Amino acid sequence: MHLTKHPLALGALLSASTASAAPQGGFDYPTPVGTVPMMRFSCTQLVVDRIDPLVNPGSVPSPHLHQIVGGNSFTPSMDPLAHDLPSKSTCTTCTFSEDFSNYWTAVLFFRARNGTYKRVAQHQEEGLRGNGGITVYYIPNADSKQTVTAFKPGFRMLVGDASAKTPNAPRKVCHRCMPKSGDNRNINCGPPDTEELPSKHCVGGIRTVITFPTCWDGKNLDSPDHQSHVAYAEGATPYAVGPTAKCPDSHPVAIPQVMYEVRWQTQEFGPELWPEDGSQPFVWSTGDPKGYSNHGDYVFGWQGDALQRAMDARCDNNHCSVLKEQPVEEAEKCAVARHVEEDIDGWLTKLPGDVEVQY
Ligand SMILES: *[C@@H]1O[C@H](CO)[C@@H](O)[C@H](O)[C@H]1NC(C)=O
Repeated sequence: MHLTKHPLALGALLSASTASAAPQGGFDYPTPVGTVPMMRFSCTQLVVDRIDPLVNPGSVPSPHLHQIVGGNSFTPSMDPLAHDLPSKSTCTTCTFSEDFSNYWTAVLFFRARNGTYKRVAQHQEEGLRGNGGITVYYIPNADSKQTVTAFKPGFRMLVGDASAKTPNAPRKVCHRCMPKSGDNRNINCGPPDTEELPSKHCVGGIRTVITFPTCWDGKNLDSPDHQSHVAYAEGATPYAVGPTAKCPDSHPVAIPQVMYEVRWQTQEFGPELWPEDGSQPFVWSTGDPKGYSNHGDYVFGWQGDALQRAMDARCDNNHCSVLKEQPVEEAEKCAVARHVEEDIDGWLTKLPGDVEVQY
């Protein structure tokens, strides 16, 4: 685990990198004016399980394996009207203890030369602690005079397409080949991130970023594809951070930008274990060895108006004067049992769910 004991001054680091007018690393990168505060906190692992209450509600098992963080009311069926996450949860794996939302993504596997698969572990971002899990961001409007409207109970959304075999969500779901430490430039899928899985060994592992839309239709808590009730802003620079630019007339309400960062410990599988032809050996639990099928699911579950308060206070990083926090040791005690009994941690002859790899 590449974890540091003391939190980095990451807010400062990010503002420094985003406020600089000079293109960085040879890329022409847009420059938000001033500092964009970003709530950025650890949600350690809740469970790794083959269920998906958003896309396949009630299915045990669902088609592919997910890793899930957040409140412990997570179940295979979470009816938006009946399932109130804050009242049904008794704990959360997130730093902010009023956040009983659930956040989940696909899971990464390594394919060995002998054809078996091993689940790739996760670690938290530098400066944060936790047993695997996800680093979650909530970003208010870069313009401090523009407020954002926090999500309503029952709200949920999805980014990406689990069945995608070709590019489909440009610069919203991406991978970065990480150096041994650092590299916080251009978050939000800016360069050098790619839609594809990196083709070379990454000494700092692979970071995936999942960036949710910033505009809502103001009416629907969900939609049949779990996407069309939300939209990305019009005229936003491609890698702009947070809700910027103009929400389309169809989706006029600016919402906080939710973003996930997941750090996959692919560095544990060195080049000596890679295929002899040098091709990259990682595959998503969807059976996708290219990287296009990665996706993120979100079910809102903050207690009361806690998220709205935090956005209005423009809280930054993993401390917030208007929110309750819990130590990571507490967060790590929160867990739920798996619903699907199957081996997910050995050297597996098949991916969970007998998912075929689509070479
Ligand atoms: C397959 O390869 C992996 C990685 O080298 C190894 O740990 C595992 O024991 C092998 N499994 C079999 C059945 O040979």
